[in-house]
This record gives sequence, structure tokens and C-alpha cells, in this order.
Amino acid sequence: MRIIFVTGGAGFIGSAFVRLILEETSDVKVINFDALTYAGNLENLKGLDPSRHEFVHGDIADRKAVFEALPENADAIFNFAAESHVDRSIESADEFLRTNVLGTQVLLDAARYKKVKRFIQISTDEVMGSLPEDDKSFFTEQSPLRPNSPYAASKASAELIVRAARKTFGLDTIITRCGNNYGPRQFPEKLIPLMIANAMNDEPLPVYGDGKNVRDWIYVEDHCRAIWEIYEKGRSGEIYNIGARNERQNIEVVKSILDILGKPYSLIRFVQDRPGHDRRYAIDPTKVETEIGWKPKVKWEEGLRRTIQWYQENQDWVERIRNGSYREYYRRLYGSRLGL
Ligand code: NAD
Ligand code: TYD
Repeated sequence: MRIIFVTGGAGFIGSAFVRLILEETSDVKVINFDALTYAGNLENLKGLDPSRHEFVHGDIADRKAVFEALPENADAIFNFAAESHVDRSIESADEFLRTNVLGTQVLLDAARYKKVKRFIQISTDEVMGSLPEDDKSFFTEQSPLRPNSPYAASKASAELIVRAARKTFGLDTIITRCGNNYGPRQFPEKLIPLMIANAMNDEPLPVYGDGKNVRDWIYVEDHCRAIWEIYEKGRSGEIYNIGARNERQNIEVVKSILDILGKPYSLIRFVQDRPGHDRRYAIDPTKVETEIGWKPKVKWEEGLRRTIQWYQENQDWVERIRNGSYREYYRRLYGSRLGL
């Protein structure tokens, strides 16, 4: 059995990754290490085979907890654990630095002492900042780090300490940078699940600014499969951008959600913009396509339909979140924007 240590595996992408790996391999055991912050949810891990999946409740910035949970000679660490929402990082950045930067350093130290064979850092296209609105500029692996939000700056910092661990200590590391994910079990603070949940409840849909910001969307399972293939075939020390060549303006995304749900466009409200709002993200995935042989499988129309269907069939999952501390967050962030 190969043993992999997955951090943040109770979150949106981490839980999709764990599920995919347990389904598509037979020789991998997962140790899933997660602090269960507001974004972590054990419901996301229901039904997993306990003989191949062990959940450990712990914080990646807690050195003792990490050293205790990480087995000697583990095959890999996949570091998904992070504070992941830009709007929250604008409200307060402390947790972003603690988890995303200090937590990554703790994991790198532990990887070195426990002789972990490979360290995969799950990063984001947002570390490269914002692109102009043309059809010629794309993020490549050579694009400079130019983060604009506290979230992006913390993820860029994490990349730099991963790089340093490789250069200084010879750790086998790879960094992956993906665009915006969508799919089942995404926390409803993010654009797509927020709009789905609000539309299902006939509540206003808050679109920032003019709604023409562009994001490059990928179905979560396609991202997870890319990470696994990069782990198996990628070259040590490399960065791989992951994207599905699927740029969309936010307003187009929101209208598509309303169309699928059969709800009126009159629910859309253009609200005060996010400070420092990046205009456009667009990934050139040529390297992962040619070197690794990865290609996305799920088309946008199909992925969005599946995602909406999941939220319709799991309204109790959404409502449990909306009735908890999320309610307070929503009022803070959207109260004055929507006149609540
Ligand atoms: P998420 O917010 O849904 O989940 C984060 C998970 O990390 C949660 O389960 C949370 O409990 C856990 N966590 C947070 N702090 C922790 C700590 N100190 N110790 C242990 N666990 C902790 O995030 P997500 O959308 O699933 O993103 C996962 C990773 O992918 C992040 O590193 C993010 O930067 C990266 N990423 C996300 C996207 C996207 O579109 N969501 C795109 C590219 C990259
Ligand atoms: P988000 O899901 O927060 O991802 P990121 O900022 O990391 O790309 O937002 C995606 C896009 O949607 C971004 O341009 C901001 C915009 N947005 C809104 O217009 N309204 C909202 O309520 C949210 C959460 C996001």
C-alpha cells in the first residue's frame, strides 16, 4: 500500500480528491489531516472505506500534531489545507498567513524529517495576479508572481517556501496552479454555490462591479485527476498550471445558473465591487497537456448542470451551512451591499 497524507481533505477540493483516489486506485491509503474550520465538513467524507481512509483532526500549523500524524517514509503529502476565500482575506488576513504560510512551512519541515518521498503544493492561478482583457494573454508557468489579494499573497508566499525547501534541502516538490473550481460540496461563500443557493431560495444574486470579470472554470474532478497524474508523472521541482480553457464572465455564469434553475434575471443585483478585484484569469495548460498527457473530461455545460443538480438534491447540506455561522458572515459582507 502507498500511504499519502492529504491536508484539508474535508474541504471542497480535498474531499473530491480523496474520493477520486479511493475510487480509482486500489493500492493507496489516505491519511486525511484537517482542522475542520468553518470550511471543513465531515459530511463531505461520508461513506469512504475506513480500511483505506483515516481521518485525523489537526491543524497544519501545529508542529506537534503534524509530526505525530505523519508516518515515516510516507509516499506523498498533498497540501490542500488553506484559508481559501478572497473576501475573507480582505476582512482579516491573519489566519491566511498562519495556515497558508506557517502551516506550509511546518509540513515541509515534517516532510524532510519523516523522509516523505514527494510534496505536492496545491496552489492557484491567483498568485500570478490579473490579466488584461484580450484574447492573447494567458498565465504560463513563466508568469511572474504578482498577487493582488491577501489570499493570493499568502499562497504566493507558500510557493516561495516550497521552492526554498527544494533548493536548500533537496526535498522533492511540485507546485500545481489551478484556476477556479466548481462542483458539488463547494462552500456557498464562493460565486457558483452562492448564486445557486440564493437562486433556489429566490433571494437576490449579488454580482460585484460590472459583472465582466473573467474566471477560467474547471470541474473539480478534472482538477483532482490532474493533480494525481502530475504526482505520478511530473518532474521534481516543476510548476504545472491546470486549466480547462474555459473563460467566462461572471455575469454569463450567473445567467446560466438562472437559466438552468428556471429563475428570472430580475434576481440579479449589481453591487459594490470587491476591493482590488482581479479582472481576468486565464490559464495556458499546454505544459500539463503535453508533458503529462492530462486533458479535462467534463464540459462546462455538463459540469454546471451536474453541480446544480447536486445542490438541488442536497438542500439539507446547504441549509445546515446557511443556518450556522455563515449567516453572520453573509450579513457582514452583503448587508450594506444588498440593503439587508
Ligand atoms: P476549502 O476552503 O473548501 O477547504 C479548505 C480545507 O482546509 C477545509 O477542510 C479546512 O477545514 C481545512 N483547513 C483550513 N485551515 C487548516 C489548518 N490550519 N490545518 C488543517 N486544515 C485546515 O478550500 P478548497 O476550495 O477546497 O481549496 C483547497 C486548496 O486548493 C487550497 O489550497 C486552495 O488555495 C486551492 N485552490 C482552490 C481553488 C478553488 O477554486 N477553490 C482553485 C485553485 C487552488
Ligand atoms: P470567488 O468564487 O470568490 O473566486 P475568486 O475570487 O477566488 O476568483 O469569485 C469568483 C468571481 O465572482 C470573482 O470575480 C468575484 C465574483 N463574485 C461576485 O460577483 N459576487 C459574489 O458574491 C462572489 C462571492 C464573487
